[in-house]
Amino acid sequence: MKFGVVVLFLGVLDVLPLANGFDPRLLVTVPQVILEVVSLTLKARKIIGKYNGIDSIPHPLLDRAERDIFKRLDLINDRLDYLTTRTEAQESVLNQLIRNLPGQLKLELRLNDLNDYITRIEVNFRRMQAYVAERDQIEKSTLSDFAKNVVSHDSSSSVNLIERIFAFISPGSRGITDTGLLHILAENLKELDTLKCDTNQSAQQVLYNLYNSIALTELKGYTMIQFSYMLLKLYNEGNFTKEAQQQQERFESRSNAAIRAIKAAMEGLSRDLYRCDPRKHVKGKTYEEVTQLLQGYVQNEVDMNNEGTCRENCAEYKYTKSYGCYKNLYCRQQRNCAGKILNCKYYDSDMWICPASPLSGRRYEYIKYESGEVLGRETACFRGQTKVDSWWRWLFWHCSYCMCLCDEAGPNSDRFFNLRPVESNMTHNMVVTGLRFVKVNRVFHLQVQEGLLEPFGKIDETTLRWVPVDGYKITDRNVHNGQDYHQLSWEQRALDLDDLQGDQGQLVTGVKFKKIGSHLNFEIRLTPFDFKNGTLVDPVNKSIWKDNPNTDSSLKNPRLHGPIKPVHLTRLNLYQPDIPTRTTSPSVPDSSTDQYVEFVNSDFKKDAAQTTVPFIDIQPVQSLIAAPLSGAGIFHKGQPHFGGFVAPKLITYDFREHLKAIFPEEGDVEGVGSVEMN
Ligand SMILES: *[C@@H]1O[C@H](CO)[C@@H](O)[C@H](O)[C@H]1NC(C)=O
Ligand SMILES: *[C@@H]1O[C@H](CO)[C@@H](O)[C@H](O)[C@H]1NC(C)=O
Ligand SMILES: *[C@@H]1O[C@H](CO)[C@@H](O)[C@H](O)[C@H]1NC(C)=O
Ligand SMILES: *[C@@H]1O[C@H](CO)[C@@H](O)[C@H](O)[C@H]1NC(C)=O
Ligand SMILES: *[C@@H]1O[C@H](CO)[C@@H](O)[C@H](O)[C@H]1NC(C)=O
Repeated sequence: MKFGVVVLFLGVLDVLPLANGFDPRLLVTVPQVILEVVSLTLKARKIIGKYNGIDSIPHPLLDRAERDIFKRLDLINDRLDYLTTRTEAQESVLNQLIRNLPGQLKLELRLNDLNDYITRIEVNFRRMQAYVAERDQIEKSTLSDFAKNVVSHDSSSSVNLIERIFAFISPGSRGITDTGLLHILAENLKELDTLKCDTNQSAQQVLYNLYNSIALTELKGYTMIQFSYMLLKLYNEGNFTKEAQQQQERFESRSNAAIRAIKAAMEGLSRDLYRCDPRKHVKGKTYEEVTQLLQGYVQNEVDMNNEGTCRENCAEYKYTKSYGCYKNLYCRQQRNCAGKILNCKYYDSDMWICPASPLSGRRYEYIKYESGEVLGRETACFRGQTKVDSWWRWLFWHCSYCMCLCDEAGPNSDRFFNLRPVESNMTHNMVVTGLRFVKVNRVFHLQVQEGLLEPFGKIDETTLRWVPVDGYKITDRNVHNGQDYHQLSWEQRALDLDDLQGDQGQLVTGVKFKKIGSHLNFEIRLTPFDFKNGTLVDPVNKSIWKDNPNTDSSLKNPRLHGPIKPVHLTRLNLYQPDIPTRTTSPSVPDSSTDQYVEFVNSDFKKDAAQTTVPFIDIQPVQSLIAAPLSGAGIFHKGQPHFGGFVAPKLITYDFREHLKAIFPEEGDVEGVGSVEMN
């Protein structure tokens, strides 16, 4: 007898339990459940096939046949219920799409119709479950009436509804130009960033999760139809062997076509997962800042050379320091810059300075020159403006107040990045499932979320946890700059932006930053794993660290090759950056791998150069349904003329390879029937 089951993950038969004590949690994927449900159904059909109609069956035997069938139906209900709760613990993907897609596209895809059909199948299915649960109190006539409705020619019968649902995913079934829902959605997902980051799914995950929920609905429809024919035969309404067979074949070919469609649609679809901007930026909750790395600073020329002279002009002071406080003038009224003073510039001779609250981390709210030029945003000045005037010395030397940058490490400046590796508990089969930046004791750390890896790329959601951060203080004994952490400075403030990925057989089990020359460089730890049995393979010996392969290894050892050149050659330019949280437009990713970004002062005109940008996005990144990662990255998102945010991204594992319709065209019930359920 021809049958074919559909689809399954490679090697699924190996793990399907062969005996009693079956644990439905072992069925982790929709294709696995399809396989088992079809097998249960075919067995039930075999039982019913033994009888030649009700008249020929002695009464006790009829009861047994009925009990047998209902028992199988109970098992199937268990499986489907379990999977339904698993895939729909959160809002269904379809509802998310309906909520988030642009109206035009929603119309084109007819998502509301699809939702309607799916809901109707669900309602019928639940009704059947209720009848089955209380079968002893239900009249046979009610059951047979229900069964007749399921398989009737009426356009709203389940038989017809599942054909209509299938029409959505099958190319060409709704007209010549129709390429199918999955394909159109895939094309659009390439642009719809917000859909992905608002739903915590990569584009590939959105599509795959949608396919799963459609496939699950199809399976429920199939189950209802097959059992309806069995009931009708049992209750002597007809033979229906041929009809049941035809529906079986339709289901098989629909399922095979669906797997082809989803596989094609998933090709080339992004697996990047990152967060959009939050509804509201909240410091300490959604973002953090590197503070006072380079900050606008007003200083008189006379204090910036060791002779106390005013012979030069501001522009001569490109790299100096503060040598004193001449006559206790304005220098006495502000916090001295005890570090490097850089890139000075002359704006105008006389000015009003509005000092900022020391708690804000700023020195000035704004500076207003006599010429009318304003640096920063001129607002009400609560602490009172200070008049600051340059002066002439002996008529020909002008002692000007310059606008410079101050690079002063110290208690006011959080400018540290952790260099220690951060890993999941590999020896206990944990893999990385999420990432976020955190600032602990003034040091930025990348924190990893870990979860227990199970067969077929599943993660045990109950084991998810954020691995506690190694929260040392930079003042602790045996903690050193360049070894445990990296301290940013004017010379060393570049962060490499890279997407890193392992091979198909590897998963991410750790992340870290290291230094290459003056750059902070991102690395991931990769560990080989076995997809079928869900174990990391020899993590102690076989795990590797991977960085950007374009990194020239000769540049990694400065001792061998003289002066260090930055490996990443293209800088992401932040042009006249304002404070990132001031923009009302949502950030968009604007960096590409192989680029780097430098932490820098905000714009002089817009912010008096008081803020260090970019900011660090500290929102957690994790998949809606926990998933292993094949890679991770650091990227920049923002708007032109704003400093933007540095953020982590995940690259989700590629399930496409494992989607295979490998069932034999010819087979028989025994083939699948190695699954014994009694
Ligand atoms: C039902 O149909 C099948 C095949 O069409 C046939 O083999 C079987 O004998 C029929 N049973 C009855 C009771 O007619
Ligand atoms: C996405 O993930 C974040 C953090 O885990 C969570 O707060 C948020 O509610 C999630 N969004 C959705 C739509 O599930
Ligand atoms: C890994 O997990 C085990 C069991 O929970 C624990 O005993 C061990 O200390 C963990 N190892 C690390 C490195 O956290
Ligand atoms: C899983 O498979 C790998 C080989 O792919 C093997 O080395 C390992 O022992 C297996 N683990 C278990 C628990 O079966
Ligand atoms: C890993 O390597 C160590 C030393 O080379 C060896 O003793 C150990 O058996 C290896 N572990 C495995 C699982 O092969």
